Amino acid sequence: MIAHLKDIDIFYEARGSGRPIYLLHGLALDHSIWMEMAETFADQAQFIIPDLRGHGQTPLGDADGSIEQFADDVLRLADHLGHQQFCVAGHSMGGYIALALAEAHPERLTGLALVTSNTRSDSPEKREDRLAEAKRALAEGMQTIGEILIQRLMPKGEPGQPDEHMVKIILNTKAEGFANVQTAIAGRPNRLNVVQTLDCPVLAIAGGQDQITPVEVALEPAEHAPNGRSVCLPGVGHMPMLEVPYTLGALLVGLKGGKTDFDFIFGRRSIREFTAEKVPPAWVKLLLEAAMAAPTAMNLKLWQFVVVDDPEKLAELRKMMPFGKYNAPLAFCVCGNLKALRKPLVERFWVQDCSAATENLLLAAHALGLGSVWCGVHPVKILEGSVRRALKLPEGIIPLNIIYVGYPAEKKPARTQYDPTKVWHNLYDTRWEKE
Ligand SMILES: Cc1cc2nc3c(=O)[nH]c(=O)nc-3n(C[C@H](O)[C@H](O)[C@H](O)COP(=O)(O)O)c2cc1C
Repeated sequence: MIAHLKDIDIFYEARGSGRPIYLLHGLALDHSIWMEMAETFADQAQFIIPDLRGHGQTPLGDADGSIEQFADDVLRLADHLGHQQFCVAGHSMGGYIALALAEAHPERLTGLALVTSNTRSDSPEKREDRLAEAKRALAEGMQTIGEILIQRLMPKGEPGQPDEHMVKIILNTKAEGFANVQTAIAGRPNRLNVVQTLDCPVLAIAGGQDQITPVEVALEPAEHAPNGRSVCLPGVGHMPMLEVPYTLGALLVGLKGGKTDFDFIFGRRSIREFTAEKVPPAWVKLLLEAAMAAPTAMNLKLWQFVVVDDPEKLAELRKMMPFGKYNAPLAFCVCGNLKALRKPLVERFWVQDCSAATENLLLAAHALGLGSVWCGVHPVKILEGSVRRALKLPEGIIPLNIIYVGYPAEKKPARTQYDPTKVWHNLYDTRWEKE
């Protein structure tokens, strides 16, 4: 399949259904190395398997020789496929891309697996070697470089033949693609600090006989991750997806978030400082879908939503809201709809309907790694009037609030505000819990 993204058409395969797991191949390889594993585990997860820029069937595009560009491609693919959160497993160089992605958007990841990869940067000598190899590939083609690489991918002391399909992919890799990615790898920073602050589970997998990544280097990331796990596969070289695809598949589908729903609920906090980054339109729709999944009195859905992303309109709202002068790139005005209502008794439920929809929207924003804050409008008449004029709300449409949404520029701890003095048992004079 092809995804038309910004400057490039990315080729990818998709197998299975359920939790999305992105599989990123290593240097001079392509999606096909993962296919046996993905097909075997297709009933347990949804695998998205791209050919990375300059590899396989994906062209080089406007390559800029950076790992961050590869990470951006994967993010765009995830946006394109509507995956707001996903697990990413990166093999070797694919791991460096996964780390760049984790650094830029940690909130998008439900899990990170580094397969015979590592978080370190190159030594100056190694960097020189890589850049020399990039030049050599451009001058001489892939044959000699490919043959050396193939030998190194084999398990240490292994007398067997290399996998024929793998040999073909490596020798068919375009020299320009190889040169771009070697330059990108040479320039990558050490990203141990990224896994140190990552909330999601981090699985580090080493091959016991890997000639390229020593076991202790491959396992290092998991030792430093708050939620890390490491596995060394005995007798395996640099290519576990070809050597032990069933073992690797079982490890990857078993990589699930350790967070409970309660951690998630407690983690929703009012965020009042935002970055300038825009919220993708597909996410705005998701937020609205979540809002309209809320409970509603007699299923009347007494709500209307105004999406505000025009900077001038946002500035106007900021001006009029005494306690809502926040710099978010997006706002929703959740309104009660009394216009078409023919049931006067139910009229009074619009506040509840809109409040339930608002809370769903806030939780959905939190699920997407966005921050949000509910700023009250109704029942303050003067505010209702200002918002009505600014958004041209007709008669019968009443603004309940302004919800600012954007990428958070502040962090707040998860917490409940549980207070036993607010809880009674059956009658209002008996405590549910002794203090
Ligand atoms: C009806 C309502 C109106 C609110 N209005 C504002 C507001 O105008 N400005 C603001 O910064 N926060 C507003 N908030 C957010 C509360 O201040 C916030 O939820 C509360 O302090 C608890 O903090 P938390 O959301 O981080 O748990 C409002 C919340 C509700 C439910």
